[in-house]
Amino acid sequence: GRPRLLVARAVFPSVIARLREHFDVQHNEADEVWSRAELIERLQGMDAVFVTTGEPIDRGVLAACPQLKAVCSMAVGYNNIDVPACTERGVLASNAPDVLTETTADFGFALMMATARRITESERFLRRGEWNKWAVDMFAGQDVHGRTLGILGMGRIGQAIARRGALGFGMPVVYHNRSRLAPELEQPLGARWLGKEDLLRQADHLVIVLPYSAQSHHSIGAAELAQMKPTATLTNVARGGIVDDAALAQALKSGVIAAAGLDVFEGEPQVHPDLLDVPNVVLTPHIASASLPTRTAMANLAADNLIACFTGGTPPTALNPQVLTT
Ligand code: GLV
Ligand code: GLV
Repeated sequence: GRPRLLVARAVFPSVIARLREHFDVQHNEADEVWSRAELIERLQGMDAVFVTTGEPIDRGVLAACPQLKAVCSMAVGYNNIDVPACTERGVLASNAPDVLTETTADFGFALMMATARRITESERFLRRGEWNKWAVDMFAGQDVHGRTLGILGMGRIGQAIARRGALGFGMPVVYHNRSRLAPELEQPLGARWLGKEDLLRQADHLVIVLPYSAQSHHSIGAAELAQMKPTATLTNVARGGIVDDAALAQALKSGVIAAAGLDVFEGEPQVHPDLLDVPNVVLTPHIASASLPTRTAMANLAADNLIACFTGGTPPTALNPQVLTT
């Protein structure tokens, strides 16, 4: 019969319709958030699974679901998938890069600007009815144009944010990454590689676009924040857990840095209560890639990978394409 596919969260009907042409689809149309045990239960007998950022596809889940042949995610970040464990079991894994790069960069830049210019803090003030007179320093924030943009994690999204800053806002760009960009990528942006400490010291606006890993866990904590300028802002559109949220809340309260913009949180959708108490942080619910065209393209790319995998094609964005040839 046809392969059996679990779509672990509710996704667009047009994408489900495409998938139904090739699979017997079990769709979590009610969009329930399953526990790990519930996920394992639903995966019994499934040949493939369509996941997002939340479903843990770890060694234990794979062992409990021996029939699984493909794990396709509509997210670019795949820290929820144990790719080496998939490879060992001959399970194809894929993510959804590239289609979200520009949309995510738009949001990262917008979040950085909202943070620097105190957009949401001032809106809350206005909505509370507290605006009764003009004041010379009312919500005076930090400039963006011409200030130094620091990028931590210079992948595709980092480069797209750097391009906005360099070409649109006259920002000198500095970055830290494990590997340096090729000169032909650095030059049009005027981007300069720095060690992490120098990046923290020099950035006026630091934007974090690193993949999450054991190495990046809490790689921005109290010690790192203390190296930043008191006028600096920090924006995270990567993953929760890279920044130590409690340390950041403390730094924001005590003026170690000026402000922060966070789209991602450790343990989301829970948000560290200390962050909810600080005014100088802009908080958004993990929506950096959430334009309608881009979310549709991401879901279709996951579907492309699934369909290719079961029709003898080449999955366009496999993380371990070797499993199909060995
Ligand atoms: C969203 O966080 C993604 O990784 O696509
Ligand atoms: C990460 O994979 C990126 O696209 O920056």
